[in-house]
Amino acid sequence: LTEKDLIGKRVVVTSGPTIEEIDPVRYLTNHSSGKMGYAIAGEAKKRGAFVTLISGPTSIEPPFVDEFIRIKSTQDMYNAVEESFDNCDVLIKAAAPADYSPKYYSDEKIKKTGESNLNCLELKQNIDIAKHFGSLKKDQIIVGFAAESSDEIKYGKSKLKSKNLDLIVVNNIKQKGAGFKSDTNIVSIIDKDENVESLGTMSKKDLANEILNKIGKLLKAR
Ligand code: PMT
Repeated sequence: LTEKDLIGKRVVVTSGPTIEEIDPVRYLTNHSSGKMGYAIAGEAKKRGAFVTLISGPTSIEPPFVDEFIRIKSTQDMYNAVEESFDNCDVLIKAAAPADYSPKYYSDEKIKKTGESNLNCLELKQNIDIAKHFGSLKKDQIIVGFAAESSDEIKYGKSKLKSKNLDLIVVNNIKQKGAGFKSDTNIVSIIDKDENVESLGTMSKKDLANEILNKIGKLLKAR
């Protein structure tokens, strides 16, 4: 039987990719399937939390939660987080938001030839949602993820600090059975004191509960 240790807590989870439209046909995105964030949201709900799941475009079935918000772009995800941040206890950023978007959106399909073509696409940097809310947090617990292709502990520690997170879950996306799309993940969880706990291959559901166990302890100590 699942322990209902999160009753009375409001948990916001972001999940999946975001997409940045170039024109009515094309967009920029990444490989996130939403599985990691959906597992966390579903398990948090089972443990009694009031769960808001903010999801980019995915093709998997959403878990049973209290509020399910579909968004497209990183700006949309930011807006949705802003709506619920003040009243939440925990924000978990499992999403993979696009870091860049086209500087200009074209209402018309861009042609392959002629003056406006796609040989050169100007980009602008999107807002970093985790960093923004990390700088604003009062007593919220913010958990970030880091998708790295090398030196994940080093980059994870640096993101934990620069985004003012309470925990960061780092995965090396080059490892088989870790990161994007798979039903499993292989991660290390780093806390504010830079303690690193490295976990072996496990289902995203089991990992969700490992992460929620750590959050539960932080909530108790608050
Ligand atoms: O969805 P799945 O297929 O199950 O894959 C899971 C996952 C690989 C997407 C997940 O485990 C993961 O690692 N998510 C974070 C991916 C990512 O964007 O990492 P990052 O290192 O670029 O970003 C670091 C943190 O900042 C993340 O918590 C991210 O959500 C957040 N961020 C990033 C960019 C941005 N503009 N705003 C943010 O809030």
